[in-house]
Amino acid sequence: MKKFLIAGNWKMNKLTSEAGAFAEELKAKNFTNAEEVAILVPFTQLAEVGSKLAGSGIGFGAQNVHFEKSGAFTGEISVPMLQEIGVDYCIVGHSERREYFGETDLTVNKKLKALLEAGITPILCVGESLEVREGKGEQTFVANQVFADFEGIPRNMATKVVIAYEPIWAIGTGKTATPEQAEEMCAFIRGVFGGMYDNEAADEILILYGGSMKPSNAADLLAKPDINGGLIGGASLKVDDFSAIVDAAAQLK
Ligand code: PGA
Repeated sequence: MKKFLIAGNWKMNKLTSEAGAFAEELKAKNFTNAEEVAILVPFTQLAEVGSKLAGSGIGFGAQNVHFEKSGAFTGEISVPMLQEIGVDYCIVGHSERREYFGETDLTVNKKLKALLEAGITPILCVGESLEVREGKGEQTFVANQVFADFEGIPRNMATKVVIAYEPIWAIGTGKTATPEQAEEMCAFIRGVFGGMYDNEAADEILILYGGSMKPSNAADLLAKPDINGGLIGGASLKVDDFSAIVDAAAQLK
């Protein structure tokens, strides 16, 4: 049976009180596929969300982390700090972090290694800009991200990473990739990953699509064979919208 992960990326939204109420409402939905659902929240909301989701099967996690365990890195949060709160997931290399906060494939690679060593599942974001796509360079661009981001990561760890293909031109723009465009790139990424490791590893790894996924387009995207779920920004901020996407995945089982 196809495995899914429906992950909400709240970005810099909600206060702790709102986050707690959201988590309670989400838990109350009693999803049959709760183990395939997660929310990625701001650092300050992690403890509250974790305690409210306890026993629900729904995962939670952070949106960024530093690769060093401790030290003179003012303003940063380490993997052991996330571990202490019991997070399941952490986003790495989101395009907003690559664009506004100087994230590079080198720091992404270090973060992946640090998280994998600690048993936290990284959700690695890759994806091209509109300019790159218009120049028909999207496959080369994304393949190079995958090569660099997985550099030196052994197979048994690499398959634990969740890859999210997020074309930058589709993020927060309302402009979703068509199911065919999304499928084409997710299948391509699976092939690249299989080339780096092997075919079984390619079958095992979860590859999500992200970029304006919403209740009205989720079922068509999720039905594609190489799309194992979604990384959802805007539509993850409302319990009902997010739940509708979770239900769409459940119906494809
Ligand atoms: P969006 O964001 O669903 O609002 O387009 C997706 C993301 O950036 O993870």
